Amino acid sequence: MPEIALTRATAHVRHGSNIGQPLTRRDGVLKVTGAAHYAADHHPKGMLYAVLAVSHIARGRVAFLDVKAAKAHPGVVEVMTPANRPALAQDPDEKSNPFMFRMDLLQSDRVRYAHQPIAVVIAKTLEAATEGAALLSPRYETEPARIGLDASESFAPPTVGVGFPGEAHRGDVEAGLAAASTRIEATYETPAQYHNPIEPHAIVAAWEGDRLSIDTPSQGLAMAQGRLAGLFGIAPDKIQIRSPFLGGGFGCKGFITGPQVLGILAARLAGKPVKLALRREQMFGPVGHRAPTRQTLRMGAAADGTLTALDHRTKTASSTYDDFFEPASDVSHALYASPAIATSHEAVRIDTATPTFMRAPGEATGSIALESAIDEMAQACGMDPLAFRLKNYAEVEPISGKPFSSKALRECYSQGAERFGWERRPLAPRQMRGEGGLLVGWGMGTAVFPAMMFEGQARAVLRRDGGGVLEIGAHDMGQGATTALAQIAADALGLDIDQVEFRSGTSELPDAGIAGGSSHTATAGMAIHNAGAEATARLAELATNDRRSPLFGAGNAGVIARGGRLFRRDDESRSESYADILGRAGRAEIEGRGKSAADPAAQSAYAMHAHGAVFAEVAVDPELGQMRVTRVVGAFAAGRIINPRLVQSQLCGGMIWGVSFALHEHGVMDARSGRPMNPNLAEYHIPVNADVPSIEAILVEEHDPHVNALGIKGVGEIGITGTAGAVANAVWHATGIRVRQFPITLDRLIEPQP
Ligand code: MOS
Repeated sequence: MPEIALTRATAHVRHGSNIGQPLTRRDGVLKVTGAAHYAADHHPKGMLYAVLAVSHIARGRVAFLDVKAAKAHPGVVEVMTPANRPALAQDPDEKSNPFMFRMDLLQSDRVRYAHQPIAVVIAKTLEAATEGAALLSPRYETEPARIGLDASESFAPPTVGVGFPGEAHRGDVEAGLAAASTRIEATYETPAQYHNPIEPHAIVAAWEGDRLSIDTPSQGLAMAQGRLAGLFGIAPDKIQIRSPFLGGGFGCKGFITGPQVLGILAARLAGKPVKLALRREQMFGPVGHRAPTRQTLRMGAAADGTLTALDHRTKTASSTYDDFFEPASDVSHALYASPAIATSHEAVRIDTATPTFMRAPGEATGSIALESAIDEMAQACGMDPLAFRLKNYAEVEPISGKPFSSKALRECYSQGAERFGWERRPLAPRQMRGEGGLLVGWGMGTAVFPAMMFEGQARAVLRRDGGGVLEIGAHDMGQGATTALAQIAADALGLDIDQVEFRSGTSELPDAGIAGGSSHTATAGMAIHNAGAEATARLAELATNDRRSPLFGAGNAGVIARGGRLFRRDDESRSESYADILGRAGRAEIEGRGKSAADPAAQSAYAMHAHGAVFAEVAVDPELGQMRVTRVVGAFAAGRIINPRLVQSQLCGGMIWGVSFALHEHGVMDARSGRPMNPNLAEYHIPVNADVPSIEAILVEEHDPHVNALGIKGVGEIGITGTAGAVANAVWHATGIRVRQFPITLDRLIEPQP
């Protein structure tokens, strides 16, 4: 179990509450000094190395593998192919819920996408395994690859995302368009994108009889444990997964993936512990990606700029063998108050691996199109884009009609615009020049992300020595979860954070749900809060029923837990320490357990979202088309902020990803071979420091009593959603050129078009 030592910022003063303080990451020093051990850092005794051989074709079958040549290599121990892969208790193509992805586990010689695993070479060294994999020299029977959004017949997926309906509407869009005095129709395209955490999917797996011990990164320990239990036909409690540190996740570590399971199978076949780590180019295939989209938006507005109709249609792609449909149109349910809204999706099946959740799945892709279209609509109406949004943002959630926190959104518009200096923006494009004659433009976008919760559990202990323990199998992808959750734990136990031993990151601890959907702090935080509340309530019961306690008889008035003492709520001069209460009762400790889940009554009464407004400045070289984002200001309202330092870091990270979405990331497929053409971080572009000079996140205060008792929303994904559109709109304002294909590249900006 990792003991995570506390490091605390020295520059701030705390005022009694742990929640709300800008503590530095508790695992920060461990990470920057190399003391944090990631999955691939483990070397159990007798460990062998496994390397994946992956397909060079996108469709067909593997006709021949030179297993003999690979096995002749002096370092190679075993080669795993469909011929000798150990049996599984469950078909890897079985699927009983949308959180279960089909996997390629050498079940046949079929190839369904490029970079599909086709064999695993196990050797004494990494070098020998790598050489062995090269010696396999596969031969294929190749069938033509179907790549791109027009490669096959399209159909309407019944559900998108995690089981949401593929279509929704309110009012009559055609009538709204007919009645409008201004109309636009525009089509936007977004490319495939690939999650590229610094740490690739790596696993060290060891079988001890029928027990399985593994080190591997996971955003959902209990779900991974359950999935592996099903595949291997063993009880979940025979599987221990350790994932105390993750080098990024972004959705691709939400579910256990095929390559991780192949590492476990290799360990079984070899009868020894095995390490398998994906090479960077192997991340472009079997571990998910963000699907490409083509989105068509139609909008109409009355003469005063009020929206009369909004139609958002998305075409996307999934694999030939599994279902995941990027829910890009759904963002149009949650922002603008058109009396008529329709959203729909269609999809094609192509020869790629199955796409999956990638940071703000649906919202990121959908909002870059929606926010671009809103900008185009404002332009068509001759209105300032902020004024247009202020006129049209929804007071209630448009599709459901439920009330939501639109006041907070208004505040984001106002604080963000003021900080950015938006009122000085000229309406027409190509009006501002910067240093060296660069064209300067300002754009904005609205940010939105649902406030979700999964189910979670936690265990709390108060000890007679005055300390406490909090256990939860939570996941720290680098966002600082173990710091923020320890702050909640300290308040829940009425202790200072230094007095709480926070245990996290392994699968035998209580299930924290999944660190996804920007919901981890809410889900795990509420479980922790409830576990602490039960522990202190049980302690209070001991005291208030004991004549020797100063709290005797306080039952109805209740007590408050703070600083290691219980205080009578109606008379704080009467209090007693935890140590005294437990000591007199002859108890070493007292335990509490807590659960969390969304409250269905609140959910049916209110629409729950975090909101934001993002303002961006770009400078474009009119001759070379070269562009730089020079400034981004985002204002976000996301309920209660547990740790403002970490939240700013999350929001800035999201905004950087938004810049990346607008200008950099592009998974390019070779349409002839179906192979990814840029599967590396040299050619798959992401922003570097020079691409993000100034990014500022403003935290707008918001108290939302409905989302959960702590008032927590999420901050992990919302930063992308407004930013991508804001950057695209700023490029238009700088140049007068509206680019509707993302990422925006300089070749499109060189020749100004009328
Ligand atoms: Mo995420 S895409 O909810 O990790």
